[in-house]
Amino acid sequence: MLGAKDFGIDLGTNFIRIYTPSSAIITEPNIIVFQRGTESIAAIGTRAEKLLSLDTERYMQLFVKENGALDYTTARETLGFIVRHYQPFSFLLHPDLLMAIPHGSSVIERKAIRDLCIQAGFNEKGLYFIDELLAAAIGAGLPVLEPVGTMVINIGGGNTQAGVFSLGGLVCSGSLHKGGRELSRQIVEYVRKQYGIMIDITTAQRAKLRIGSLLPQDMEIDQVTLNGRNMKTGMPDSAVVTTEEMREAIRPVVNEMVDCIYQVLEQTPPELASDLIENGVIATGGAVQMRGLLELIEERTHLNIKIAKHTSDAVIRGVQKVMQDPSAWNGVYSDLLQ
Ligand SMILES: Nc1ncnc2c1ncn2[C@@H]1O[C@H](COP(=O)(O)OP(=O)(O)OP(=O)(O)O)[C@@H](O)[C@H]1O
Ligand SMILES: [Mg+2]
Repeated sequence: MLGAKDFGIDLGTNFIRIYTPSSAIITEPNIIVFQRGTESIAAIGTRAEKLLSLDTERYMQLFVKENGALDYTTARETLGFIVRHYQPFSFLLHPDLLMAIPHGSSVIERKAIRDLCIQAGFNEKGLYFIDELLAAAIGAGLPVLEPVGTMVINIGGGNTQAGVFSLGGLVCSGSLHKGGRELSRQIVEYVRKQYGIMIDITTAQRAKLRIGSLLPQDMEIDQVTLNGRNMKTGMPDSAVVTTEEMREAIRPVVNEMVDCIYQVLEQTPPELASDLIENGVIATGGAVQMRGLLELIEERTHLNIKIAKHTSDAVIRGVQKVMQDPSAWNGVYSDLLQ
């Protein structure tokens, strides 16, 4: 197996991450804008965000992933845009691709992803895929090829995933289509129900990052003013929300995340479970940085959890490692047709 040389892609819920040997890792917010009338994508990432803020009549936002699941048409158009605009070498008509695919995708879903990559312009014979959880483990530096048990947790914008690996293979895993974005959404819901004020998800996310915490700890600032619209009057209005209220709002979803990880441990064979107790577990993804989240998982599982150094970029870093030395990782990626 030769491996992909040109492009590595991780289409995340919050971010699109692209690796090319010439420009290393590019991270763009997952914002896709479609230009009405031209029936095509006008921009992605920060440029798309700018266009949207300038002209909402002409531009419309599309979503590659909603609630953790891929929208195939938007994904195809977005990949086509990436082929045209992020080409490492302009003479390449059909570049190779190593794509991180959602953990737990079925054979049918994987075939569909393969088809849309070909339609987007990638080289049919140079298409490779890697499970995003395995890529996260590799990116976080776990010795997944060794004859020991290692565990990775990945909590991103739209997904919570955990898996145990040994000898390059997945031993057991679990996933939930809920991640950091769902926590922000719960804050939106709480403010709507409790105060009758509608705030947008970006406002909720900002507040979550600023004062969100799952620990009853002393925070320097423990309340924020959230601006939104009063649902009765339709007028601009605001609510003051405390860390404690936010904790109450997100706790049910956090419990689902912790349960998902606990269930993976329950499935882990005892001989590998002892490796996990000895060597600890690595956490990846942006949302594992939520204050107190790892402490809660540790409390429930009695495991020692470390955050990966480049936690948000773990998947694309794993893709990069595999692309840089495909023969060393032969077997962890596939062309899905074997
Ligand atoms: N310091 C932080 N505290 C709490 N949450 C955070 C922090 N930093 C980032 N997040 C959350 O992490 C999420 C984004 O994580 P990440 O970049 O791993 O997602 P993604 O790869 O785009 O999504 P997915 O892999 O689930 O499709 C967002 O919901 C964001 O609010
Ligand atoms: Mg991700």
